Amino acid sequence: MLGRIFKFASYDLAIDLGTANTIVHVPSRGLVLDEPSVVAIETINGVKRVKAVGDEAKLMMGKTPGHIEVIRPLKDGVIADIDVAEQMIKHFIRKVYGRQNFRRAPEVVICVPSGATSVERRAIRDAASNAGAREVHLILEPMAAAIGAGLPVTEPIGSMVVDVGGGTTEIAVLSLRGLAYTASVRVGGDKMDDAIVSYVRRNHNLLIGDITAERIKKEAGIARRPTEGHGITLSIKGRDLVNGVPAEITINQTQIAEALSEPVGAIIEGVRIALENTAPELAADIVDQGIVLTGGGALLSGLDDAICEATGLPVVVADDPLTCVARGTVFALENEQFRIFAH
Ligand SMILES: Nc1ncnc2c1ncn2[C@@H]1O[C@H](COP(=O)(O)OP(=O)(O)O)[C@@H](O)[C@H]1O
Ligand SMILES: [Mg+2]
Repeated sequence: MLGRIFKFASYDLAIDLGTANTIVHVPSRGLVLDEPSVVAIETINGVKRVKAVGDEAKLMMGKTPGHIEVIRPLKDGVIADIDVAEQMIKHFIRKVYGRQNFRRAPEVVICVPSGATSVERRAIRDAASNAGAREVHLILEPMAAAIGAGLPVTEPIGSMVVDVGGGTTEIAVLSLRGLAYTASVRVGGDKMDDAIVSYVRRNHNLLIGDITAERIKKEAGIARRPTEGHGITLSIKGRDLVNGVPAEITINQTQIAEALSEPVGAIIEGVRIALENTAPELAADIVDQGIVLTGGGALLSGLDDAICEATGLPVVVADDPLTCVARGTVFALENEQFRIFAH
């Protein structure tokens, strides 16, 4: 009886600290928070304070007056601003816990980019401890992605996971609870958005914002030209660069594919380099098992086909790729065998 009560009163947390989104799971309760990794900082009389975090802060992006700055503290997969990152982590943890008093301090596992330095890892641990965690474990993102995708990470079988996030694409080969190869390419969803912004500026003399570019990518983004015709056509609004007034143009999927060719090419190149650096026995396993794509960027239409064509290997998109890392993180917390934590 007591055991049951304690099980349901679990305060433990699994946090996927992504460059674009932070997702928090509580074992037995499931997903409790899914918000952009964004913080709005306000400066009044030289004093900075947090004005908004998460969804509320993202709504302010590109629309702030001079005294408010919107920051993505993990934008490029490294922590650009440790103080802001700490504030964000604390904010999210407190948001999940509310005003509860803990019967016992919670255990927290946080998923971090594999390239995070020891200073960054310490800062993340400290932020969680200061927010009330008893024990803080870190798990590397490719490991969490692979666990979330159900790959056999504990066995002597090579698996390749490509996690296409906002700021980075993490490419890794895993086997026997470890990373046999890992690389972080600074190309992901953000670079795709940037590529759309510059394409539209160059070819249509129209200036659009990042949020608009991201919307275009999600609605009609495509990794390769449509095989027939030009696919879907979208109308987009921005500021005309010639006469400076708001204007509207249309763009089709052939053009969007052209715009995205550089970031998509960079991801494919990263995968190629990883394969070249993979030991033959592991490479043989990958031929059988294929490459698994996770992260929001895996939702880009045709990315799997483009990687398959470039490598000749089977490529599959994990179920619900946006939450794959978060699900792997909570699975690691709950299952003794998968507690493959980093230092
Ligand atoms: N349908 C979609 N097509 C293409 N990209 C998408 C789609 N949905 C989300 N994304 C992109 O996925 C990225 C976020 O993925 P996520 O895995 O949450 O990143 P991170 O782990 O770095 O926070 C963003 O750049 C977002 O625009
Ligand atoms: Mg991620």
